[in-house]
Parts: sequence; C-alpha cells; structure tokens
Amino acid sequence: MSKPKVVLGVSGGIAAYKACELLRRLTESGHDVRVVPTASALHFVGAATWSALSGNPVATEVWDDVHEVPHVRIGQHADLVVVAPATADMLAKAAHGLADDLLTNTLLTARCPVVFAPAMHTEMWEHPATQENVATLRRRGAVVIEPAVGRLTGVDTGKGRLPDPVEIFEICRRVLARGVTEPDLAGRHVVISAGGTREPLDPVRFLGNRSSGKQGYALARTAAARGARVTLIAANTTGLPDPAGVDVVPVGTAVELREAVLKATRDADAVVMAAAVADFRPATYATGKIKKKDDQEPEPVALVRNPDVLAEISADRARPGQVIVGFAAETDDVLANGRKKLARKGCDLLVVNEVGERKTFGAEENEAVVLAADGGETPVPHGPKEALADTVWDLVAARLR
Ligand code: CTP
Repeated sequence: MSKPKVVLGVSGGIAAYKACELLRRLTESGHDVRVVPTASALHFVGAATWSALSGNPVATEVWDDVHEVPHVRIGQHADLVVVAPATADMLAKAAHGLADDLLTNTLLTARCPVVFAPAMHTEMWEHPATQENVATLRRRGAVVIEPAVGRLTGVDTGKGRLPDPVEIFEICRRVLARGVTEPDLAGRHVVISAGGTREPLDPVRFLGNRSSGKQGYALARTAAARGARVTLIAANTTGLPDPAGVDVVPVGTAVELREAVLKATRDADAVVMAAAVADFRPATYATGKIKKKDDQEPEPVALVRNPDVLAEISADRARPGQVIVGFAAETDDVLANGRKKLARKGCDLLVVNEVGERKTFGAEENEAVVLAADGGETPVPHGPKEALADTVWDLVAARLR
C-alpha cells in the first residue's frame, strides 16, 4: 500500500517551528509529507529544515518546477492538507479563494479533507473579519481547530496559541482514518464530561474511583476532528494532555461537575456524560485532618446522595432536540442492567461497558454496546477508545440530522 499523502502548509507565524514536530510525527507514522511553506514562513524556519525532515522537495511559489504543474498536482494528489500554523492572513486567503502562491493554489485544488490549526494574537483571532473567515471555512467543510489559550509571543497571554503538535497530529490521524470531507459535527457544540469525581473527607483524603478519563478525552478528540466545538468537563484527569481545540473546564467534585455541565449544556447540541460521578459524598467535611485515636474504633463515614446530573439534564433539556448520552459501567447482567438504567436516566443513548479489576479502567481499548431509547442496539467490538467514540458520534450525528 502506498503511504497516505499529506500536504503540510506552513504560514508565516512564530509557531512555524512547532510544525517541525508535527512533520516529524507524520513522517514517522508512515505518511508521505510534502511541506508547502509560504514565503513568510521561511523567515521563521528555512526550506532546508522542511526538506530534510520530510525527505521531499520544498517549494513556495508556483514558478518552481513548472513542468510538473505543482500548483495543481500537489493538491489533487493529497489525502489530507493540514495548515499549521494558519495565520489570520492565510485564513482570509483561504476563505476568499485567493491563489497567489503555491499553498493557496494547493488549497483550491485539494479535494481531500483540510485541517487548519490557527495561531495568532488574541485580538486578531477575535476580530470579526477572522471569525467570519473561520465560519466560512467551517461551513465549506474544513476542520478549523480552536487555538489554545496560553502564553503568546512576548509577554502576553490569551487565546491564539497553536495547539500542541501532538494533538494536531491526533486530529490529522482521525480525519485521515475516517476520510471525512464534510465534518458531520461542524457548527455543533458538544459537551463531554470525563474522568472521575473526588468527594473530600478532609483536606488530604477523598472518596474516588478508578476512571482515567481516557474515554472522555477520546470523545473530545474525535468530536473536534469531526468539526464540533467541544467543551470538556474534566474531573481529576491530571496527566492527560488537553486535546487540541477543546475548551477544558477542570472540576473536582460531583457538585462542581454538575454546575459546569449545566452551564455548558445551555447551548449544546449534544452532551455525553462519560465521567464516573460519585453517587454519594461524605455528609460532613472535616476542615482539619482526621486523626486516628489509638484506643478507639474508627467512626463510620456517613454519606449523602449527590445529584444525578445525567437524569437531571435528560429530564429538563436545555434545548429541544438536544441529544444526551450516558455511560454505564456494569459488572454483572450488563445488558439487562443497561436497559433499566437507560429508562431510569431518560437519556437517548447509553454506552454500556463491562468493567472489572483489569477491564476498561485506564486501558487504551474498550468494548461496549450502545443502547438507544428507540430500541436500537449497536455493538462495538474490542478496539481503541477512539473507535467507540466515533460510533457514539455516528449515532449522535444521525439523531441531530
Ligand atoms: N451519573 C451522573 N450523576 C451521578 C451519577 C452518575 O450524571 N450522580 C452519570 C454518569 O456520568 C454516567 C451514568 O450516569 O453517564 C451512569 O452512571 P452509573 O454510576 O453507572 O449509574 P448509577 O445511576 O449510579 O447506577 P448504579 O450505581 O446503580 O450502577
């Protein structure tokens, strides 16, 4: 099999150096990458670097190697075009169909999926001109990743940073795997909860669970790759990198998670509750560390119920037509318990998976059945958590249509 052909477009921003890492990941994972920098990108990273890392010739203008008609061929033969970083100027040119160098020509001739990873100062990103260009590109089917928030060039911080190249690579991999030319979640806002809540007993102890958050993160990554605006409510998922283009809201307890979910779901098209939410919390919180007393038996821990977030948002939908998905971790009678839970929670879909000592928690792979309120049943064979995530989005997208 021939290697998938990827065009890496690089426009002129300081984040161009980070595209070297993206290029390295793409080539090392078996992609044939042709780098097409703009003339201004070459001020930041020279052609020799791109050529050496890609193993392919590098051209910027349509006048190089004219006999090969590169301004048409490169785009026509690509399986994926990714522009990282995409400057405000590049987004404007792409949105308006300008073609004054090799990269802009390539964007016009490409018939494959196109991913833009914008990077610029916050003011430029927020400017209505840029926002309208982004909306135009998304409407036409391009995946435009939301920039990350953080330190920008110089001392200022804000939204506009290029997302981590590892995460841009993940999006490219997902888009290539699915061959999506029209991202079916474009223009949709999806909310995902991930991880496991911790219910504190005192300043050093908590009641928690073994959920790693990986399934929720896979859902966030795949939704972003399918064009959605994603809010990820992350309960105690330290150690997992923020997926590119995803708005991450960290929470600790079930009560905090509920607040964050209710706020984010107001304008959401779909909500996926992948987090393991503690059903109970200690009735009291000791502000000082609970000390053991050598001559006394320990005090029992009294618990009170936590709100059931999934049942609450399902019963009182923030928007008509909002699709709500729950997860059920079961150890016995998996399907029968799943059906009962689906009815009790009132959601549209319930992903039922079997858990146990060595199953699912923290693993990279998963196996599940997705039960639907309309009686549907979709088995998902053992495989990567991203495959399960894509099945969930297939079912959600079908319901949103
Ligand atoms: N969930 C929730 N709020 C809670 C508990 C659970 O929103 N207080 C959500 C989870 O995010 C998950 C689904 O409900 O999507 C199933 O959670 P689970 O704990 O498996 O179900 P329970 O209702 O707690 O049933 P049981 O403990 O009897 O298995």
